Amino acid sequence: MELEPLKDGHGRLIGDLRVSVTDRCNFRCQYCMPAEGLPWLERDEILTFEEIARLVGLFAAMGVHDVRLTGGEPLVRRDFPRLAAMLAQIPGVEDLSVTTNGYLLERHAEALVRAGIDRFNVSVDSLQRDRFFELTRRDALPQVLRGLEMLAQYPEAHPIKINAVAIRDFTEEEAIPFAEFARRTPYEVRFIEFMPLDADHAWTADQVLTGAEIRAAIDAVYPLEPESREPHATARVYRFADGNGKIGFINPVSEPFCGDCNRVRLTADGRLRTCLFSLNETDLRTPIRDGADEAELERIIRAAVWRKELKHHVGEPGFIQPARSMSAIGG
Ligand code: 5AD
Ligand code: SF4
Repeated sequence: MELEPLKDGHGRLIGDLRVSVTDRCNFRCQYCMPAEGLPWLERDEILTFEEIARLVGLFAAMGVHDVRLTGGEPLVRRDFPRLAAMLAQIPGVEDLSVTTNGYLLERHAEALVRAGIDRFNVSVDSLQRDRFFELTRRDALPQVLRGLEMLAQYPEAHPIKINAVAIRDFTEEEAIPFAEFARRTPYEVRFIEFMPLDADHAWTADQVLTGAEIRAAIDAVYPLEPESREPHATARVYRFADGNGKIGFINPVSEPFCGDCNRVRLTADGRLRTCLFSLNETDLRTPIRDGADEAELERIIRAAVWRKELKHHVGEPGFIQPARSMSAIGG
């Protein structure tokens, strides 16, 4: 089944779907969740594997080729590798990836690679155990590093990317250690500017440590050369001038990349979000459970995507933070 390509009202083709498979998480990162966690969705509120696969199949028929699985923490969803295998088999899904905090990778890396996950992004915000604990509220750095080592054994899972959220008065101290880590390991490190998606709604613009600032600090010690930017890429990637590794910067706040955004998101409870910062969502779960056929679902999806936001308004006067935090949206 091949359908018309999925397009928004600003002419952007949608090629990338982020699917949150659970709102739950075994970490409590300060920039994402409150220490006590959040009220979790009930089990029957979450899409089943079959419902997810049906929707992914429909998006793929409309030209979505990249599918990224997120959470919460996707690996805490029971039987997650089985879902990965189901999605890997869908025609049109060319690139299936996972964003994870890495805690359960040591146990599940092999099953996920075998299931057909092509690429992994692992979140690591500090390379110092006590500071990792401070930010994630879990003393889990050694466990996450073991998970990374496990993953590194599978050549088919490369390149492995590490995401570090960049927060002023915290991440400055991490810049050079991460640069050195990127130079001596096979991992590509990327800094992501802190966005107003924290559950505590405590974000302020001055807490954003920009990619340009971190890049300048690293470049002063280890000179960097820009790589050309691929279409729809969120990261600006640099290689170390001496050829040892790469480092990237995702700058949604200081240098928004909305212009060629090709992404939409599906939450764990089956809502379609056309922007991380959307203030409204489109319910796909109710029509699915009420027996909607493919044509009806396609119509609902196209109408929602047509209204995809032109750009986000982070940092502008009047910006309203979405009610859901990152863990409930899916990163
Ligand atoms: N700002 C920037 N990045 C965030 N992430 C979670 N919350 C935020 C935030 N408020 C990151 C995680 C993970 C990815 C899913 O999003 O660290 O790498
Ligand atoms: Fe969990 Fe990721 Fe949120 Fe941290 S950022 S609490 S790992 S969902």
